[in-house]
Amino acid sequence: MEERLQKIISQAGIASRRASEKLIQAGRVSVDGKIVTELGSKADAVKQVIRVDGKPIGASEQKVYFLLNKPKGYFSTVKDERGRRTVLDLLPKAGHRVYPVGRLDGNTEGLLLITNDGKLMNGLLHPCREVEKTYVAKIAGMVTEELLDRLRQGICLEDGMTAPARVRLLAREGKLSRVEITIHEGRNRQVRRMFAAIGCDVKSLRRIAFAGLSLEGVGRGQHRELTGEEVAGLYHLAGL
Ligand code: URA
Repeated sequence: MEERLQKIISQAGIASRRASEKLIQAGRVSVDGKIVTELGSKADAVKQVIRVDGKPIGASEQKVYFLLNKPKGYFSTVKDERGRRTVLDLLPKAGHRVYPVGRLDGNTEGLLLITNDGKLMNGLLHPCREVEKTYVAKIAGMVTEELLDRLRQGICLEDGMTAPARVRLLAREGKLSRVEITIHEGRNRQVRRMFAAIGCDVKSLRRIAFAGLSLEGVGRGQHRELTGEEVAGLYHLAGL
């Protein structure tokens, strides 16, 4: 059956749908030996040989699922153009082509899922699934409940209003306030921009939960594989 090339590539776990489009446009994808750069081109994954960077994509590759506790200073990409450390440097090299599910900024730490299951990745990242992510932010100064109410109600950012967030003031520690915030959108640097919009300076940011999974038992820089039950739970959340 013929399908759009970007769909085949993302479902094989190579990259998200948007990143697959970029791979095509960059001339990194071939079908039966011919480079295809036109978006919307179709191919048959069963009858044709589709390659990304010369490597055939194997739809039947064994699926792997890692939960990583990302430290600061690692980038949520597969290969960094500037040669900086990526989250894949923290995982065993088993020959699987794995990708982070979404991203954390270089200076944000915490929970990041990494998999070669493109279908699950796309499902979890789809805005309509509203998958929850919880962060703990350390904020300079004494944050008030009135300020946090603005995040609870939704706040106007340059790319539009945010959905209401769940926000808890956890503690005031010296000159810092510790705030827990749960959102279900995944805009670029969203949490930092939300705090900036209420005049708060984020000193550190850590994702402590994603899609019902937590960092429990996984130290900074460490990872573990998900259990079958956890993967099933993610499939449910992804609507698959
Ligand atoms: N929001 C941010 O500001 N940064 C992240 O890394 C994730 C969410």
